[in-house]
Amino acid sequence: GIKIATIGGGSSYTPELVEGFIKRYDELPVRELWLVDIEAGKEKLEIVGNLAKRMIEKAGLPIEVHLTLDRKEALKDADFVTTQFRVGLLDARAKDERIPLSHGVLGQETNGPGGLFKGLRTIPVILDIVKDMKELCPDAWLINFTNPAGMVTEAVLRYTDHKKIVGLCNVPIGIEMGVAKLLDVDHSRIRIDFAGLNHMVYGLDVYLDGVSVKERVIELLSNPENSSFVKNIEGQGWEAEFIRALNVLTCPYHLYYYKSDEMLEKEMKNFKEGKTRAEVVKKLEEELFELYKDSNLSIKPPQLEERGGAYYSDAAVRLISSIYNDKRDIQPVNTINNGAIASIPYGSAVEVSCVITKEGPKPIINGDLPVAVRGLVQQIKSFERVAAEAAVTGNYDTALLAMTINPLVPSDKVGKVILDEMLEAHKEHLPQF
Ligand code: NAD
Ligand code: G6P
Ligand code: MN
Repeated sequence: GIKIATIGGGSSYTPELVEGFIKRYDELPVRELWLVDIEAGKEKLEIVGNLAKRMIEKAGLPIEVHLTLDRKEALKDADFVTTQFRVGLLDARAKDERIPLSHGVLGQETNGPGGLFKGLRTIPVILDIVKDMKELCPDAWLINFTNPAGMVTEAVLRYTDHKKIVGLCNVPIGIEMGVAKLLDVDHSRIRIDFAGLNHMVYGLDVYLDGVSVKERVIELLSNPENSSFVKNIEGQGWEAEFIRALNVLTCPYHLYYYKSDEMLEKEMKNFKEGKTRAEVVKKLEEELFELYKDSNLSIKPPQLEERGGAYYSDAAVRLISSIYNDKRDIQPVNTINNGAIASIPYGSAVEVSCVITKEGPKPIINGDLPVAVRGLVQQIKSFERVAAEAAVTGNYDTALLAMTINPLVPSDKVGKVILDEMLEAHKEHLPQF
């Protein structure tokens, strides 16, 4: 049987994952699911772990659920390790959002200064996990969902010799589902050629039953309701002429780059009203855990769909199943570039449509990105690389460099002010600085 270890098991997304394993049990016979958390997440782990047990019992499946604070015990002989942890919890996310905004700069979980600091807190932990894996389950696949997923994947590829890592995001699958809905067809009929980076991914073409419908879909993206496919970002329609000329599908995070002023204005309003996303999610999470506590509940409650990570379980479990079964189907994931996108370094992580095999994902996009988007993608990749280096070395100058080359940061001076304030605010979770 298969052993899965899930780091950050107390996450409110765990019922999603469990639902995914239940649905695909026939093709993916999971025998042990180890949910790992830390002391600070103990209560959440117990609540969500008990719900997981009830869900599995109701399904009548022989999957053992283990709850533990001992990561090593969970990793021992695991076949797949999934990560969904948040260093510093939502309080840290609120700081990532609020401190930049207090200086007039976008504050967001994975973009701008917030994305940098989430990376600085997360990368040392992921490198530690990989070190443990080397000792306890060297052949296991690491399926990383922890944000910033692109930067984290980059760091593992660059700073460890563990090559069995796949970074995963629900945005591409969310776009596929969203496009299917727009065209009022079943999602299985839609295919999109994805290429770019995590949260900086483009749809180079989109097909309905194998025939390109890109022109039609692009036209629909100028409607504000259609420009975001995730719950955590409110849409704003693209100028029709702009999106037509860009001639590729955007992802919701592009709003921060091609509509920077408008998005900043929105976030500033949220900031002043105490409603940045972390603050909204805190309330959502409290409600969710109240539901999870109910011993009569043995399904994933629909309220979880208010979180940005919808379809996460589908994405994670179909990926694990395709690796395990050597399915060779196409899925968009973060993996080593190896020349798939010519203008991105060979050894870097990219988010591209891949054939998923037993040896891992093989990118199927070959060539380069359109010239209009190439530069931004390269800039974000440079940011991710410099940020990962800062996370590993704890070097202040490198951190300031990462901060300043981020396209959402207006100057080195403002960058330094934000950097200093954030280093202080997060120091408990930044032992390397
Ligand atoms: P959360 O705040 O519920 O945290 C999950 C758990 O991680 C908590 O129970 C916490 O105690 C635990 N944790 C913290 N530090 C840990 C450590 N060192 N070791 C083990 N566990 C630890 O977070 P969430 O909202 O469920 O999100 C979890 C992660 O998934 C975040 O990093 C988030 O950004 C990411 N996420 C990614 C995507 C994606 O598209 N890739 C989508 C949604 C969420
Ligand atoms: C998504 C992204 C994630 C992000 C999440 C935020 O759509 O793909 O990477 O972290 O939503 O969701 P939340 O509900 O926590 O704001
Ligand atoms: Mn994501």
